[in-house]
Amino acid sequence: MDLINIALDGPAAAGKSTIARQVASKLSMIYVDTGAMYRAITYKYLQNNKPEDFKALVDQTTLELTYDKSKGQRILLDDQDVTDFLRENDVTQNVSYVASKAPVRTFAVEKQKDLAAKKGIVMDGRDIGTVVLPNAELKVYMIASVEERAERRQKENEQCGIPSTLSQLKKEIEERDHYDMNRDISPLKKADDAITVDTTGKTIEEVTEEIMNLVNNL
Ligand code: C5P
Repeated sequence: MDLINIALDGPAAAGKSTIARQVASKLSMIYVDTGAMYRAITYKYLQNNKPEDFKALVDQTTLELTYDKSKGQRILLDDQDVTDFLRENDVTQNVSYVASKAPVRTFAVEKQKDLAAKKGIVMDGRDIGTVVLPNAELKVYMIASVEERAERRQKENEQCGIPSTLSQLKKEIEERDHYDMNRDISPLKKADDAITVDTTGKTIEEVTEEIMNLVNNL
């Protein structure tokens, strides 16, 4: 099969990164987590006491993606590996705001397009099928009930030692989705030619197989 790109979009905690990682590994493709890029810029925004000049912020930022055999994608922000800080609560609470800013999106989208130029990429995010890779060979829009998404995130947080409660996570996920879906620039929405995959009640293996079937039918 010729090299392809796969775009995976959807609301928060729908299972995108877990599935994207599985699919990329099965197809020997590279997985790119674009949420981590917005999270890294948000980390810098917080470290710099929330400056409102986002153009200046990104103009003074270098962001690089590297791959570690055991740890997967790592994010180098100004030459420092910040990957382990990107799931912290203050980053999660501010990332939608930072990601709504034009200079931030221009900066991140340009890098994402470059990464995918040679193909062989599975990229997950909110605007991949609509803006970043409008010509991706396969576009998937992944959804799941908010209850299940909160439960999954709770388990992930437990594993990473991040404190949270189910009701707090449900509220945070709903608020973040609302913000992401209603922002002016590149809001989260299903591309017209994306295939919706509902992961509610399905195992990682079942969803991975569903997507592998879509790939095999291209
Ligand atoms: O996927 P993740 O939950 O890490 O994304 C964090 C936030 O980054 C999202 O809630 C959204 O505000 C932003 N984002 C975005 N566009 C993307 C990926 C993430 O705006 N392609």
